[in-house]
Amino acid sequence: MIVLGIETSCDETAAALVSMAADGTPDRNGDPVPLILADRILSQLDDHRPYGGVVPEIAARAHLDHLDGLVAGLFDDAGLRPDAIHGVAATAGPGLIGGLVVGLTYAKGFALAAAKPFVAINHLEAHALSVRLSHPEVGFPYLLLLVSGGHCQLVSVEGLGRYRLLGATLDDAAGEAFDKAAKMMGLSYPGGPALERAARSGDKTRFSLPRPLMQRAGCDFSFAGLKTALRDAVLKLKADRNGCVADADIADLAASFQAAVADVLEDRTAHGLDAFVRRFPSLGDGQRHLVVAGGVASNALIRRNLTLLGGRRGFVFVAPPPRHCTDNAAMVAWAGIERLRAGLSSPFSAPARPRWPLEDLNETAPVIG
Ligand code: KG4
Ligand code: ZN
Repeated sequence: MIVLGIETSCDETAAALVSMAADGTPDRNGDPVPLILADRILSQLDDHRPYGGVVPEIAARAHLDHLDGLVAGLFDDAGLRPDAIHGVAATAGPGLIGGLVVGLTYAKGFALAAAKPFVAINHLEAHALSVRLSHPEVGFPYLLLLVSGGHCQLVSVEGLGRYRLLGATLDDAAGEAFDKAAKMMGLSYPGGPALERAARSGDKTRFSLPRPLMQRAGCDFSFAGLKTALRDAVLKLKADRNGCVADADIADLAASFQAAVADVLEDRTAHGLDAFVRRFPSLGDGQRHLVVAGGVASNALIRRNLTLLGGRRGFVFVAPPPRHCTDNAAMVAWAGIERLRAGLSSPFSAPARPRWPLEDLNETAPVIG
């Protein structure tokens, strides 16, 4: 099965062709191993950088300008003709409405012309399942920490379309906190990777920043207090230095901030592991997986801390490769394969949904807590 995936929910125009292994070689569970045939991504960073954030209308217009050329190049990369595919999957939400409409309409047109099924994909489900593309040995259930620019949640992934929300952010998402913190420090856009780079040479103990909700019951997150404390630290530093903050100060601020976020994510995830073990007590060590997804999951310190945490608690830590943690179309094509294999496709009337919580995919009423 070969599926074309389209991703246009934010500021990356992306398309990918994913199949089950051409030779059909099964893995040790007997499942066919997935294969990425071609994977293209066009970042709009340069278009948005002057504004310090994503401008929705610029994003939608750029998707419209580039998507068709990107898909043509994709088929060249794979050496395939459009009629070789078995379905088209596109992100239908959550995300910026203009970009979603562009990708969704293009994908529906492509599917109609090729007379193949169309699948509307929830972007969060695509992040949640992406681990099974890179690590087919990961079966349901697993605990997912989804940390991106728009989302920060702990989810028990119990099957396709069976997601139990254990906790979520009460204010900012982790990536949003990274982006805002980087902006305060005068670092380049996008903030997360720039802040991680700056933190490499910094002293994480220099600034004592709060760890919101740490050691409190439950699995919710909060970053607003940390952001305010960082703003105060930046303002104080500027006042002390007559507005001229040295690179070494920025490095220390970045390292202190990154350490605080990493501590919060580790603590909240530890609570999530406990909740997961209570829910699935019969799973033994080595059968339990802690999976991370979303752009923030490409942060090396966060990955290292979660690997160690999982190891201490008898969980195998698994993360997609960094390029598939951030937004990409291979995860969308993969979610399409998972859905088509389960006999699920979407009508051509499927809407674009700027807001589309993961739990809304559950066949039964959403389960929270
Ligand atoms: O999943 P993603 O590509 O897009 C969304 O769906 O939001 O995540 C983007 C977010 C941005 O907030 C970005 O700053 C953050 O992930 N990010 C990072 C790193 N790389 C990307 N945050 C911390 N460290 C990184 N290395
Ligand atoms: Zn994303």
